Amino acid sequence: MSSLKILMICSEAIPFAKAGGLGDAVSALSLGLKRLGHDVRLLLPRYGFIDITTLKPLPDPLGVPLGTQQLWTAVYRGELPNNQDGDGIGVYFLDHRRLFDRAGIYGTPEQPDFHDNPQRYALLCRAAFQLCRALHWIPDILHAHDWPAALVPVYNRLLEADSEFSFSASVLSIHNIGYQGIADTTHLPPLGLPAERIAESGLLFGNRINLLKGGISCADALVTVSPQHAKEITTPEHGFGLDGLLRARHARLTGIINGTDDNIWDPQTDPLLAHNYGPDDLSNKARAKRTLQLEMGLAPLDDVPLIGMVSRLVAQKGFHELCDPRRGILPRILEVLPLQLAIMGSGDPLLEQRLRDLARSYPNLGLNIGYREQLAHQVQAGSDFFLMPSRYEPCGLNQMYALRYGTIPIVSRTGGLADTVDEFNPANDSGTGFFIDYPSPWLIFDAVSRAVRLWHNDPAAVVRMRRRAMQRRFPLADTARAYLSVYRQALSE
Ligand code: ADP
Ligand code: GLC
Repeated sequence: MSSLKILMICSEAIPFAKAGGLGDAVSALSLGLKRLGHDVRLLLPRYGFIDITTLKPLPDPLGVPLGTQQLWTAVYRGELPNNQDGDGIGVYFLDHRRLFDRAGIYGTPEQPDFHDNPQRYALLCRAAFQLCRALHWIPDILHAHDWPAALVPVYNRLLEADSEFSFSASVLSIHNIGYQGIADTTHLPPLGLPAERIAESGLLFGNRINLLKGGISCADALVTVSPQHAKEITTPEHGFGLDGLLRARHARLTGIINGTDDNIWDPQTDPLLAHNYGPDDLSNKARAKRTLQLEMGLAPLDDVPLIGMVSRLVAQKGFHELCDPRRGILPRILEVLPLQLAIMGSGDPLLEQRLRDLARSYPNLGLNIGYREQLAHQVQAGSDFFLMPSRYEPCGLNQMYALRYGTIPIVSRTGGLADTVDEFNPANDSGTGFFIDYPSPWLIFDAVSRAVRLWHNDPAAVVRMRRRAMQRRFPLADTARAYLSVYRQALSE
């Protein structure tokens, strides 16, 4: 099969910019495609925290027409290392001081969403076309990720149908449908679409605009990040208001599980761990537990299980069910069950404060409010169980990393969690984790207590489950191949 030219348009990609799993998923997919021989490149903004001194400027600035304006940006080129034989992946950074040279990706702790986000990401999306023209490199596939890149399919359909992009297919991956880029209609003019074509764009959403909706309406193919979630988002319960549109376009919608990058997440080689380990020798996992207990200010105990969490502190991840002052179940879990809990996260300031209060009252809760890459790896390695009581979870990477680290997931039965974890079945000693049937406070308690009971009553069964979990793989090549079949289908229509 011939090699494809693919441009990823995205707001996050590790190691350059990451707010959550999106950054991991985009880079991992790009590597998977590259290693199968495809010409993959990435385009993302040059945020203020991305150091340009290691990047190479393109010789000419890029003029990007947006409505009546022409915005000028510099472009820098960097590289995503391949870590295997072969070249790295070209990454283009759009350097527009006024719109992108800021400390945050989407906002700051004080202002979670910059008011001009529609214009910022319109620039990114429109620049994708101008950059390709400047490089004389017209991709077969324009692959947009989430609402920040959702205008790419809109521009491709509405503004580029008769241009050199007329043979380029647009693919939109929905990593998180809970974030749609909704704004009032005063944000329409800076998007640069002719007024008479707005209706056709699919951008209107009641009396507002919705960037993700525009992308879903115009893309040649739609992907979300697990088969189970692909079904869920066509229902009113999980469609966040877009289920009707997704039902109408369901023939174009595919669910593909993200792959995980073994160069970053493998306990046998992970450079962020003091001691590496594999399924045949778990003694260093016990050492990692001790390290984590010390790091988190927990007592160095061997006779209680340690449950880890690494998460954005937001409603999606079940933190209201855990910490709500009236009905949150965390105090009860910490009082009644013989366990320790290590939580690292950042996000909603109210949830951060509530967790700080709880950590003061319960010595068996270790807390780190912040965002630390190394500690995320240490929590995966040092915990016995990994808790994800998500209300919804399109894919979820943390439970996949946990499996690999022999850390048994306790997860909601939803989305990618349901697709990647197999339920423990004592009758035939099978399965890799525990399910929370529905993320209500009591069902979270129930699942955690089942896990804790097994840990205390049948340690050998826990070790066998750990070993099964560690065998589970989510190869980048599988994910890349599934995307390739979506790409080829989109190109053939
Ligand atoms: P989501 O993308 O919804 O946040 P995922 O499970 O797909 O959830 O991915 C989360 C990613 O973000 C993981 O790589 C995880 O380690 C990382 N992460 C989340 N919170 C933190 C944090 N406070 N510090 C370091 N890494 C974090
Ligand atoms: C989103 C989802 C998460 C998914 C990640 C990468 O942030 O919340 O479930 O794993 O994107 O696709």
